[in-house]
Amino acid sequence: MKMFLSLLFIAIVAVVIVATSGTYNISATEKHWSIVEKAITWARNNSIDTHAKNLVVSKFDEKEVLSSGLEHYHAMCTECHLSPGQKPTEISMGLYPQAPVFHERSPISEQLNQSEVIKKYFWVIKNGLKMTAMPAWGLSHDDKSIWTMAALTLKLHGMNAQQYEEHIRALEADHSHDHGHDDHSH
Ligand code: HEC
Repeated sequence: MKMFLSLLFIAIVAVVIVATSGTYNISATEKHWSIVEKAITWARNNSIDTHAKNLVVSKFDEKEVLSSGLEHYHAMCTECHLSPGQKPTEISMGLYPQAPVFHERSPISEQLNQSEVIKKYFWVIKNGLKMTAMPAWGLSHDDKSIWTMAALTLKLHGMNAQQYEEHIRALEADHSHDHGHDDHSH
């Protein structure tokens, strides 16, 4: 026990010395040691699981997922998370940790697992993630639009460029309709 305490003390002193001296490299291009990265990922996932566990998926209109959800995603998220068919951006390349590319994830077919994922996505989108570039959108958006964005994010899993393009075109067509531009002929 005494031995353990001495070692612990030495470790704490070492951390304080390194942190004070500025030799710890805070640069985004200097990767964490793999054990540190594992520890952060573990704590991060536990935190998200715990906070998302008791959320109740609110009723969002399925149609809004591909309208307002997609519109928000297309405008606010693609710089970092990209969209199907999009090449890495100057921002996405420089991020550490990297932002996940959702359309490269496998689709989740089971309803139950889907709602678990939507809850986690909701929590992260609303609250953001410390010490990453993931912003807290809950400061500027209500829960309803965040549920819709979470469902859209899940829908992106496995989506290809052509499908994404079609959804965007449908969205644009809908808009020109709303604004009464070219809808007099039909
Ligand atoms: C400035 C860059 C940036 C923007 C803009 C951004 N994100 Fe993120 N996002 C990140 C990063 C980086 C992570 C990963 C953080 C980590 O590794 O813990 C992340 C993580 C997430 C996660 C967690 C994924 C998982 O499996 O745990 C979700 C969901 C998410 N973002 C959704 C969104 C949505 C939706 C938007 C737009 C409304 C958005 N993000 C905008 C950078 C960004």
